[in-house]
Amino acid sequence: MPPDLTPDELLATTRSVRRRLDLTRPVERGLLEECLLLAQQAPSASYAQNWHFVVVTDAAERAALGELWRGVAVPYLQHRAAAAAADQRVARINDAVRHLAEHIHQVPVHVIPCVEGRTDGRPAAAQASRWASIIPAAWSFMLAARARGLGTVWTTFHLRHEREAAEILGIPYEQVMQAALIPVAHTIGTDFKPAARHQLDTMVHWDRW
Ligand SMILES: Cc1cc2nc3c(=O)[nH]c(=O)nc-3n(C[C@H](O)[C@H](O)[C@H](O)COP(=O)(O)O)c2cc1C
Repeated sequence: MPPDLTPDELLATTRSVRRRLDLTRPVERGLLEECLLLAQQAPSASYAQNWHFVVVTDAAERAALGELWRGVAVPYLQHRAAAAAADQRVARINDAVRHLAEHIHQVPVHVIPCVEGRTDGRPAAAQASRWASIIPAAWSFMLAARARGLGTVWTTFHLRHEREAAEILGIPYEQVMQAALIPVAHTIGTDFKPAARHQLDTMVHWDRW
């Protein structure tokens, strides 16, 4: 059953879901379309609406993307092994990442938010407005998914192989940047808790830094 959440609960409990993605249950296309329609309500620079979402359900494509994803996740986990041994929080995230690496090809849907216009090597201001033309829409998609009992996690591992992913999916790499790979599935249970965060005064600056 989809959770019946207030707006504040939705914002506070849309977590990175890796271990509680239901790999056995297909995701209805209509649910995804509802989330994508809500994503389209996000802002984009100059009202460009230069966003695209590649919704991958094909098993062979998910397997190919999974290979790329795993190829970055495994060395990442090796690199973080010492940190995980020293800190239980890191160990928990690493375990979750390892679980997803082992199962990513089985996650029923991979969503790749994209934006038209490459900004490789451009100044930070150009980068910021281009990325901010897709990231709010993608986050709206993730919130809408949570409201419908779907789990998601923002991931970027596959971007190390963005060109290969573009070839797999027919994305015109020279014109279009991929922002993420978001695995999507129904969640196992719908109860998620707010995460621990730093005290506000460590990151909020009133009037001056
Ligand atoms: C920019 C960005 C990149 C991320 N890349 C990955 C990734 O490649 N793989 C992954 O498993 N999680 C990835 N994550 C998720 C984070 O590792 C982390 O789980 C999440 O931010 C923690 O969420 P929480 O504090 O709400 O639990 C990424 C998150 C962000 C915002």
